Amino acid sequence: MTLFDIHKEFFLPLEYMGDENKNGGLTKNNPRKWTDKEIDWALMLKKRGFNNKQIAKYLYRQPLSVSIKMKRLSKKDSMSYNEPHREDKYLHNELFLSEINPKIVLDLFAGPNSYYEGKVEELYTNDVEPTFNTYYNEKAEKLVCKLYYKGCTYYLIDVDPFGSAYQCFDLCIRMATKGIIITLGEMGHKRFKRLDFVRRCYGINDLNDFTSSNIVSEIIKIGERNKKKLIPIFVKDYRNISRVYFKIEEMKITEQWEG
Ligand SMILES: C[S@@+](CC[C@H](N)C(=O)[O-])C[C@H]1O[C@@H](n2cnc3c(N)ncnc32)[C@H](O)[C@@H]1O
Repeated sequence: MTLFDIHKEFFLPLEYMGDENKNGGLTKNNPRKWTDKEIDWALMLKKRGFNNKQIAKYLYRQPLSVSIKMKRLSKKDSMSYNEPHREDKYLHNELFLSEINPKIVLDLFAGPNSYYEGKVEELYTNDVEPTFNTYYNEKAEKLVCKLYYKGCTYYLIDVDPFGSAYQCFDLCIRMATKGIIITLGEMGHKRFKRLDFVRRCYGINDLNDFTSSNIVSEIIKIGERNKKKLIPIFVKDYRNISRVYFKIEEMKITEQWEG
């Protein structure tokens, strides 16, 4: 088995490659045009934690070409993430806040300025980016373990990653008492026809079944396993991303053998 076979799902599909530009004598190779699909692919690899050298290998490019492109894109990407759906997202945040009236909130992927600042009685913010002035500056996956161990609970937890925060779901559902908001960055895999992640996490084996409502059903089951009834109040599908607002109720367990 070759390296290509092991990592083949990460290599850029050939149909996403751009044409080669004519070499004006400035570079050793003929530079290849970046297509929108290739840019999306590069950003997807970045979000999965690959470095520029690894990304270059998967795009069949020189590392320098990738690092220049990623630098240019990084500004654009962080500025444009929320743009198309920002207004609708904050509108539904507001509607949901008035529905559940949370007093204590954990904003687990807060960004530089938490939406909840000044809106709730007690706010705990977190972001892995050390330059952001958040209450915690930790990887969410680890932080939730620490908070759960300490016995913390919150009326509302907002889970708003760039990609998927699947690893945090169980503990966040346990710690949230009235509501949990989950952004499903994994919806972005659909445009690349990638099923590996959703197959493993949600049992989705077919592109036609790759829908936010099927993922929501699986998250509801995670809730049940943690003795919480998750009621989706809003399921908002945006471009390459969905955001789901769940109300939480304690589950009444009536079976004799449940502890
Ligand atoms: C989608 S943005 C958050 C947007 C913000 N909630 C808002 O409404 O404007 C995702 C944030 O998660 C942070 N992040 C990325 N990986 C993380 C991790 N493993 N743990 C915690 N934060 C992370 C990024 O720095 C980024 O600010």
